Amino acid sequence: MPVPKAELHLHIEGTLEPELAFALAERDGTELPFASVEELRAAYRFEDLQSFLDLYYRLTDVLQTEQDFTDLAEAYLSRASAEGVRHAEIFFDPQAHTARGVPFATVIDGLWKALYDSEQRYGISTALIMCFLRDLSAESALETLNAAEPYLDRIVAVGLDSAEVGHPPAKFAAVYRRARELGLRAVAHAGEEGPAAYVAEALDVLGVERIDHGIRVLEDPMLVERLVRERIPLTVCPFSNVRLRVVDRLADHPLRRMLDLGLVATVNSDDPAYFGGYVHENFDGIQAALDLTVDHLRTLARNSFEASFIDEPTRARYLAELDAYTF
Ligand code: ADE
Ligand code: ZN
Repeated sequence: MPVPKAELHLHIEGTLEPELAFALAERDGTELPFASVEELRAAYRFEDLQSFLDLYYRLTDVLQTEQDFTDLAEAYLSRASAEGVRHAEIFFDPQAHTARGVPFATVIDGLWKALYDSEQRYGISTALIMCFLRDLSAESALETLNAAEPYLDRIVAVGLDSAEVGHPPAKFAAVYRRARELGLRAVAHAGEEGPAAYVAEALDVLGVERIDHGIRVLEDPMLVERLVRERIPLTVCPFSNVRLRVVDRLADHPLRRMLDLGLVATVNSDDPAYFGGYVHENFDGIQAALDLTVDHLRTLARNSFEASFIDEPTRARYLAELDAYTF
């Protein structure tokens, strides 16, 4: 049985497997620019973040109806339950859908049908994190936050994703301020392709509580010291970093160094349909590549629960389950 863990960095659109993409395209009569599942899988070779995002946004075209979003989330939950995931904080990108004419309500109602009773059906508690696309305008992000207002009881936090370089966190200061006024928590992708300075800016200007990726903080020892001291969690995604060429090979990944420095790192899958594995494959792969010890693995699992936005009784229950787990 895989170690119990929380997954904190998972884009639901990034769980769209080629088979499901073709099934949805057929059901809804949308066009995919690939002749077969095999041809699509062969396109999963990326030069960098942007080349991945081009395909990721192209494939979201098949997500049209509430049922499509429900099916997508159900497929993820069923995979995740077999991987020891006890709690999942799931990103979604409303602007990737509203820009195509799919209403916000279709997206969130569809996801919610799969998520609201996920604990009973899959043994996984879930929370939604609404991401703003940072390569779109701050006005568009604010419109998205306004559209989300009737659904705030379904959303735990806001996040920031898409093309990082040239789109610093400060661009979204006002929308994050508004989100926090509305009672939402805050995270942001930073230090994936972008510089360590974006990590500091996300903390100082946006008031985020966690950093998604953040591996470039290692270029700034003073910032590392701060993150250790303030126990700011980093949601690290090893397979993603290799596939998007942020690191050359898994064996070169800095995760072990991050843990040994005392950073509160976690392991996550990011966009598992595109990057060659779900969260447990990431655990197994990085453990083998970096020769991680049982202590490292226990710390990673513990960090995942400690960094998650769950209530304290639930956290205590998950941590007790982890304490009773033998590797
Ligand atoms: N959207 C989906 N996956 C992403 C990633 N790894 N970085 C930025 N935006 C994303
Ligand atoms: Zn991500």
